[in-house]
Amino acid sequence: MKIIITGGAGFIGSHVVRRFVRNYASYQIINLDKLTYAGNLANLKDIENEANYRFIKGDITDALFIDALFTEERPDAVIHLAAESHVDRSISSPLEFVMTNIVGTVNLLNAAKKYWTGEQRHNRFYHVSTDEVYGALEETGVFTEETKYDPHSPYSASKAGSDHFVRAYHDTYGLNTVISNCSNNYGSHHFPEKLIPLAIHNIQNNKPVPVYGKGENVRDWLWVEDHARAIDMIFHQAKAGDTYNIGGHNEWKNIDLIKLLCAIMDRKLNRQKGSSAKLITFVKDRAGHDLRYAIDSSKLQKELGWVPSLQFEEGLEKTVDWYLANEEWLTTVTSGAYQDYYYKQYGKTEK
Ligand code: NAD
Ligand code: TYD
Repeated sequence: MKIIITGGAGFIGSHVVRRFVRNYASYQIINLDKLTYAGNLANLKDIENEANYRFIKGDITDALFIDALFTEERPDAVIHLAAESHVDRSISSPLEFVMTNIVGTVNLLNAAKKYWTGEQRHNRFYHVSTDEVYGALEETGVFTEETKYDPHSPYSASKAGSDHFVRAYHDTYGLNTVISNCSNNYGSHHFPEKLIPLAIHNIQNNKPVPVYGKGENVRDWLWVEDHARAIDMIFHQAKAGDTYNIGGHNEWKNIDLIKLLCAIMDRKLNRQKGSSAKLITFVKDRAGHDLRYAIDSSKLQKELGWVPSLQFEEGLEKTVDWYLANEEWLTTVTSGAYQDYYYKQYGKTEK
């Protein structure tokens, strides 16, 4: 089987590529990635020379390129992760999110529709999505696969749009599509614009840790390798047209998470207890900030037998260990354009 995995140089994509390359020697894995600021081939150094792995640089918004790629490669399946993924960037540049997340997805669907005819109509098109399409929860309740879409940010609106197109191509053209909607991921190779790696980086450098609003927002965190394992199971076992929610029943208020992270960092960096927490700085809230996300993943657990493997404290500790052991990775991705982004987003947050 030849699988095109889009966005394989990004955070989650690199874990999915690694898992498929290592676990399925008989598959050919093509990593298709534009290498935006978020894509980094260093994420895949350990598997880049494997015989069943290839990288192709390309842009999913380029319909002609995608069409030619399908003619040339004749893939048997697509696992689609390429996206603009950061809510704050979507607030400042919404159109880029429409282009990559909606137009890019439709370009891939069109190529699949054109080339997967006859028996090949059964080829799998797996679209990786987010729980953010369901909107925001109050203090109680959870998102199930039946929850109505209610996106609030340009990011979640663009992901919701792409999900609708994927379902439309199943219903209208009979493509063998599958969608999964996952909660917030954490782990190694996470770009430090997102809360956890940004906080680790700042604590390490004794810089303020920006917490939006009062830090009361709640996210449901999942170890990225548990997400990759869920994608593997769903890819191989789901019925055509099906949807699965993925999440670890692991809700944390941002401020509690950051305090836990500060305590871990104090210990790892041999700093005095409480010193990292002094870096916590409350900053202006995100516009349209969703209060709470929480995923009900019981369908995935019951039907496919998936269970999350790590407790959060253990996973967070492993994550911190990875960042401390990979300072070079962090230094590389935080040089250059990152500095401009950081300044625009946070300005001067020094106390
Ligand atoms: P990421 O931003 O780390 O990586 C995105 C990758 O896509 C990068 O390698 C980038 O170079 C590539 N890319 C962007 N635009 C492209 C284009 N036009 N053509 C080809 N490649 C392009 O994102 P991530 O956090 O790894 O998320 C991957 C997917 O999972 C996304 O679809 C996202 O919506 C979804 N998701 C993410 C989370 C999360 O917590 N990060 C949770 C649930 C779902
Ligand atoms: P983020 O990692 O951007 O993921 P998402 O917005 O997709 O959930 O943010 C996680 C939570 O942390 C979210 O409630 C926003 C908040 N946050 C901060 O408080 N400070 C920050 O600097 C960032 C990036 C996020």
